[in-house]
Amino acid sequence: MAIQGGRKVTELLKDKLSRPLRTLRVSVTDRCNFRCFYCMPTDKDIEFLPRSEILSYEEIERIVRILADLGIEKVRITGGEPLVRKGIEELINKLTKIKGIKDVALTTNGYRLKEMAERLADAGLTRITVSLNTLKQDRFSLMSGGLSIYHVLEGIDALRGAGFTTVKVNSVIVKGINDDEVLDLAEFCRERGIILRFIEYMDVGTLNGWTPEQVFSAGEILERMGSLYDFEPVGRESDETALRFRYRDMDLEFGIIASVTKPFCSSCTRLRLSADGTLYTCLFSDRGLNIKRYIRRGYDDRAIAEVIKDLWHRREDRYSEIRFESINSLSSKRVEMFRIGG
Ligand code: GTP
Ligand code: 5AD
Ligand code: SF4
Ligand code: SF4
Repeated sequence: MAIQGGRKVTELLKDKLSRPLRTLRVSVTDRCNFRCFYCMPTDKDIEFLPRSEILSYEEIERIVRILADLGIEKVRITGGEPLVRKGIEELINKLTKIKGIKDVALTTNGYRLKEMAERLADAGLTRITVSLNTLKQDRFSLMSGGLSIYHVLEGIDALRGAGFTTVKVNSVIVKGINDDEVLDLAEFCRERGIILRFIEYMDVGTLNGWTPEQVFSAGEILERMGSLYDFEPVGRESDETALRFRYRDMDLEFGIIASVTKPFCSSCTRLRLSADGTLYTCLFSDRGLNIKRYIRRGYDDRAIAEVIKDLWHRREDRYSEIRFESINSLSSKRVEMFRIGG
């Protein structure tokens, strides 16, 4: 019998489109010290979760343990902004010790990184991704809500010294806003040996008023990059989000997450847990499964595992592949980015 990831293939949990359950993204808070216009626009009223609704670290650890038994090997911690939640390093440390979990990563806006890089590394975190859409202070204020970009830049530079093996930068490119910085962002990352991933602007949540015309596409990004750099495509791993490219003049890659023009739903093995204990089977879900209810009502691990298995067996999400058919019917109810964590 074939073995994959240390488990018998026949035991892997599969959804309706035969996709296994492999990765969990955990949002640990819906709060954020930024106000990116595409996520938490300042002109919109945003209601945050009361503390009592938020999963404790013990509850998150228990859910991850149950999911590890169901096949999850990778966990990515997100928010809101995960570094604003107190004691996040304790959670990281707990998750890295769970049997079956091979990889714990974190996505951050970078603002608190300078002070936290060492502690995060000491907790066992090896992979980190920082969001950075621009190198200009005025544009940073406009895109992300006023704070100093230097905190983020210094935070990125603190990572190497702290011993992180993989550092990535995510840049959401919005046409007419920051597409003129594609090459500058690439140069910034090349100078530091950082893997840059350009992200096509997506219609996540209900607050950003996204239109297809605002998307700076993978094709356009490649054309821009090709005007200065020589690179070649690299094969993508089975459930990866990014199209990958390797520069020919140095040992470094960059990527493009093209969920609008080149969707990757057919290989999507990601489950998402929001800070309030809801499981979502797609970034664009309009409803989720309240797993916290089962935890707080005292269900045992086996019963909770059955509920999750049933959820995954029923899963048939492929939003990015059918975006332009379903855009209007879903857009009023979709979960917000700062709740589900990207
Ligand atoms: P790796 O573990 O390094 O592969 O990270 P990742 O690309 O899964 O995570 P990251 O937090 O860096 O996400 C990068 C971008 O991809 C974010 O904008 C996410 O919202 C987006 N993304 C991640 N997973 C999915 C997905 O399943 N569907 C869509 N449409 N976008 C996704
Ligand atoms: N489209 C594309 N990427 C987005 N992100 C947040 N909102 C959007 C959106 N509408 C990015 C963040 C972060 C990652 C988790 O998702 O900037 O890098
Ligand atoms: Fe905060 Fe990230 Fe949303 Fe920006 S995109 S407001 S950094 S959660
Ligand atoms: Fe997965 Fe949904 Fe993203 Fe498709 S749109 S890749 S199903 S999260």
